[in-house]
Amino acid sequence: MLSKQIIALSGLIAVTIASPFTHNVAPNNMPTVLVSNPSSQKVTSTTAFTNGAGNNNNQNTTDGIGAGKDVYNCYSGSFQDFPAKSKWISFTDMWNNAQSALKESCSNIESTGPGDSAAQITDILSSIQQVADTSLADHRFIFATIMQESSGCVNVETSKNPDPTQPDNPSFAATTAFTSTQPVSDPKEFCSLEFLTDNGHRGLMQSAGGSSFVGNSASAAAQAASITQMIIDGTQGTAKGDGLVQCINQYGNIYEAARCYNSGTVDPSDLNNGEGATSSYVNDIANRMTGWLNANNGESGFGSC
Ligand SMILES: *[C@@H]1O[C@H](CO)[C@@H](O)[C@H](O)[C@H]1NC(C)=O
Repeated sequence: MLSKQIIALSGLIAVTIASPFTHNVAPNNMPTVLVSNPSSQKVTSTTAFTNGAGNNNNQNTTDGIGAGKDVYNCYSGSFQDFPAKSKWISFTDMWNNAQSALKESCSNIESTGPGDSAAQITDILSSIQQVADTSLADHRFIFATIMQESSGCVNVETSKNPDPTQPDNPSFAATTAFTSTQPVSDPKEFCSLEFLTDNGHRGLMQSAGGSSFVGNSASAAAQAASITQMIIDGTQGTAKGDGLVQCINQYGNIYEAARCYNSGTVDPSDLNNGEGATSSYVNDIANRMTGWLNANNGESGFGSC
């Protein structure tokens, strides 16, 4: 009964939002791991360490080819067709390249505040390093995902579906499709229903059901803690959605993991298949890993691939 309801519902949720932060809201975008202790979640997949998604030495910030180039290349196919870790730029270079972007990060997107302050930028750096150290997810993949999801704007708005018939629109009213009197035997199904009634994507990594920023008027300590929490939510997962770690452990490489994070499901032979979310997502992440920041944005970027 429950699964029939979910299948019926999945037909309703094919619409996606025209935003770089779009996530699929289909029921199959459910957490594979119900995370009750996110800050202890770690990359454990051996393949992931071979492919660079896992990194035991995130303290080494000069770990790539240097600064790379701000160009947009077109990739397609399976994860092996996307740049291997030997092509990735160094974390320090990725960070330095992005400094002016972070200061203006909120100007082009819906947000409640201006670009990041110097203190907020420092907090982002230390939080990435802290969460990378504990999760063993590669720090560059975390930062690339932050830039992809929010341009690094701490005040980024929660993304919601503009269509009021969709479950992640604030005015969506639970319909009979959501009301089940059946006993819930599988906690994941329960979670699915719960997820559908609260799946705002929040914060620096637009994590499913995660936290948003505490605000510019909070104390320096509260802002720092909030920035760390947003990065924990996106990297190590929440009770309502997989973080990078769960996707990395499931797929073993950053490209399938990126598609998992954006779409919930992965077409391994075509990573530009957005599965209802953002087609360009994996290609964008790949380019960020090799130095892309601003060049050929939009139509002249992925649009021309
Ligand atoms: C940092 O990583 C680079 C690239 O893999 C390597 O050449 C260098 O020896 C590493 N440095 C340290 C201190 O581990």
